Formats: sequence, structure tokens, C-alpha cells
Amino acid sequence: MSSTLIVGGTVVTASGTLDADVLVEGEKIAMVLARQPGLAVTMTADRLIDATGMYLLPGGIDVHTHMEMPFGGTFSADTFETGTRAAAWGGTTTIIDFAVQAKGTSLLATLDKWHAKADGNCAIDYGFHMIVSDVNDTTLKEMDACVEAGVNSFKMFMAYPGVFYATDGEILLAMQQAARSGATVMMHAENGIAIDQLVAQALASGRTDPVEHGLTRPPELEGEATSRAITLAKVANCPLYIVHLSARQALEAVAQTRDTGQNVFAETCPQYLWLSIDDLARPDFEGAKFVASPPLRPKDHQDSLWRGLRTNDLSVVSTDHCPFCFKDQKELGRGNFSKIPNGMPGVEHRMDLLHAGVAAGHLSLPRWVEVASTTPARMFGLYPRKGVIAAGSDADIVIYDPQARQTLSAATHHMNVDYSAYEGLEITGRVVTTLSRGRVVIDDGTYQGSTGHGTFLARGLNQYLL
Ligand code: URP
Ligand code: ZN
Ligand code: ZN
Repeated sequence: MSSTLIVGGTVVTASGTLDADVLVEGEKIAMVLARQPGLAVTMTADRLIDATGMYLLPGGIDVHTHMEMPFGGTFSADTFETGTRAAAWGGTTTIIDFAVQAKGTSLLATLDKWHAKADGNCAIDYGFHMIVSDVNDTTLKEMDACVEAGVNSFKMFMAYPGVFYATDGEILLAMQQAARSGATVMMHAENGIAIDQLVAQALASGRTDPVEHGLTRPPELEGEATSRAITLAKVANCPLYIVHLSARQALEAVAQTRDTGQNVFAETCPQYLWLSIDDLARPDFEGAKFVASPPLRPKDHQDSLWRGLRTNDLSVVSTDHCPFCFKDQKELGRGNFSKIPNGMPGVEHRMDLLHAGVAAGHLSLPRWVEVASTTPARMFGLYPRKGVIAAGSDADIVIYDPQARQTLSAATHHMNVDYSAYEGLEITGRVVTTLSRGRVVIDDGTYQGSTGHGTFLARGLNQYLL
């Protein structure tokens, strides 16, 4: 068993900071030893890493990614291999990806298929949620088998009629089933039936540019769907997690409900914190790079989202990483915005973009770690194996230089996509070293990991249930 000693750094946890040295033995953290003036402790290890001036963070956990996802007539451009490598570059050491049930297929066959895609190909650890798109007796029974197999969160869609959309009745049935085993339903909350009418009206009147994607999905229809999902979850007594929350109206619904004690949680994503509908309105079809659902909102929603992160009405920041290249993929929607594949790249830059939020005064350092690692671990049944730097936890450790400057660009990123949504953005802070289960994956600008190092994580239940 090899050992690594990381000295001189500042450990950042969800509850504060600590000047401490960290000893890793094999795949686990063996000791976190606070440095005290006048107290010299000698430890030895096979490898010594000097982290003076650096933060030591628990590895980031991105609970919302879509690697090689079939969607919009094409596939998202990152495979499990390229996507998990890019994640490691950005200090993320665990992803939870979505297995996608196609209509007419079984959940368990779907799970097998996603295991086959990921097994032996990942640079970091991974788990799965299950997208339920065909609610029937078999599906409902199979939900329990998924929970047994360590997949206990089920995403459903109030959007995308004819693709993933589920009726309120189907959602209620799935929620009742999930509630019996303590599983969580994750909801894409947009009123897809109303949106489809607005889309048809826009196209009929010749409005075809990417910005129409945002204008035909108004924030009120996210607020309405969020409230409806909350009501259905209350009737079913089912834990509910709202994914990729983007609109103030949806946040208000979540906040009011959380005050009542109902098990309702929500995440947002960096693109909703830093980008806006102005990006969707970029000329010459450039706006297509920013087409995702829910859409980027007017700028004034951003302050509400940052506040929601501080008040914990938003508990998690994930990426909803679902990259489509501009060339040949986003271009499928030239002349018809509704044909632009929905999704944006992001898995590599979540930690950095949240650190930019710390630098801008939106979040405290501990809160950064909490929303990016610790809460995701607790929310999705991985804590304390993941999400914390403590003896006994997996040695998923990020050494982060808070003073380094970097410029985000497609020319330097590692995601398998031909554009960056943040092209040219200069930020302070960058990952220097990423360890996954004790193994150095990224070190000072070099990739040292290997495909197949990442293992599947069978997850326990949500640890926040009231
Ligand atoms: O536009 C998005 N968000 N694409 C990925 C699929 C989803 O709805 O999360
Ligand atoms: Zn979604
Ligand atoms: Zn998604």
C-alpha cells in the first residue's frame, strides 16, 4: 500500500478551514493533523506533496452529468472516458450520471447498458441516477430493483412532450413507488405542454433564432411546474429534488415549501449563475452554444440564485454537463431553434466558477465546499466515504491554488467539445493536483490518471430526509 503526505496546506471543509497536513494510505485518508506552533510531528510517506499556500478540498461531486447521452437526434459529445478525465482536470472526483430509459425498454436493461458504457472507462468514481420515461407496471416494480442496485434517485420530466415527458398521473405513481423505498424523485420542472404551444407560435410567425428558445420557455412556466411537482410530492409523501433550477419563481416555490418542513431540495448550475439570456441572443447563431433547458434567464435572476445558495434553499451546484459541438450538432437547429440539441458543457469548470463566486463575495469558502462536495455526498448517499477530508474517507483530494490566474477557453479545456461557454473569461483560482482514491490523476498541468481507475458507487439514501 503506498502512502502520500500532503503538507503545508489549508484544509477547507463545509464547517471551516484548518491548517493541517494530510496523510493518505492506499485509497483512504489515514490522518488529518492540525499544525500547531511549537509542535513538530514527523510523519513519513512514499510521496511528499508540498501544498504551501494551497487549499485542500474534498474532491468535487457533480451529481448531474450526461455523458454520451442520446438526445435531440444525436449524442452528447463526451464519453465516460473523455468526460471523467475533464472532470478530474477541474477538481471533480465523482460524477453521478443519468441512465436513460427509452420508451418501451426496461429500467434494469437500461442500467446494464449504462454500466457497460462506463465500466472500465472512467478516470474517477461514478454513480447513476435513472431517467424514467415510460411509467408502467414493470417500470414501477423495477424501481425497487434499481434501489437495491445502488441507484435510488429517479429523474422525471414535466418538459419534452413525446420524448421524456410524464403526465401528472404517471409522476404521482412513480413518486408513490419511490416513497415506499425512501428513494428521491428528481424533477425537470418546466411546463412542456404550454412551452410546445409557444414554440409552435414562434416558428409559425418566423421567429427561428436561438434566443427564441429562451423566450418560449418563460420563467413562470418553470415556477408553475415546480409548484406542481412539489404538490404531487406532498400527496405521495416522496422526497423531491428539483434539478437545474434557473428561475426566481421556481426558487420561491422551493423556499416556501422548505419552510413547511417538506422534503424538497434543489440544485442550480454555474451557467445560471454567470450567464444570461443575453448570451442566447448572440448574433450569427452563436446563441445556439447556450441552448439548454431550462434556458438562461434575464440577469436579474442571478442575485436570487446566489442568495438561495447562501440560505440553503439551493443546496447543491451541479453542471448538467451535456455537451454538443457547435459544428454539426448545434448546427442541426439552424433556421429552427427547436432543433438545436439542448445542453451545455461544464463538468470541467464547476469548481472554478464557484470559486469565482467566492472571490466575488457571493459565497464563503466553506459554503463553496459544501455546495460542491459535502452536500452532494449527503444528498445522494455517499457521505462520509465522499465529500469530506477526514480519516477513513476516500482520499479524493484537490489541491487548489486560490491565487493562480487562468483564462477559460476551448483551446485549453479537456472536454470533448469545440467551444467554451466561457470563452475568454479570466478567473482567479485553479486546480493544481487531483487525487482520486489516493491516486494522483492530475498534477501540475499533466494528466496522470488511467481509464478504468474509476469505480461504480452503489449509493445509500438521501441523508437529509426529515
Ligand atoms: O438542456 C439540458 N438540460 N440538457 C440535458 C437534459 C436535461 O434536461 O437535463
Ligand atoms: Zn433536465
Ligand atoms: Zn440534465
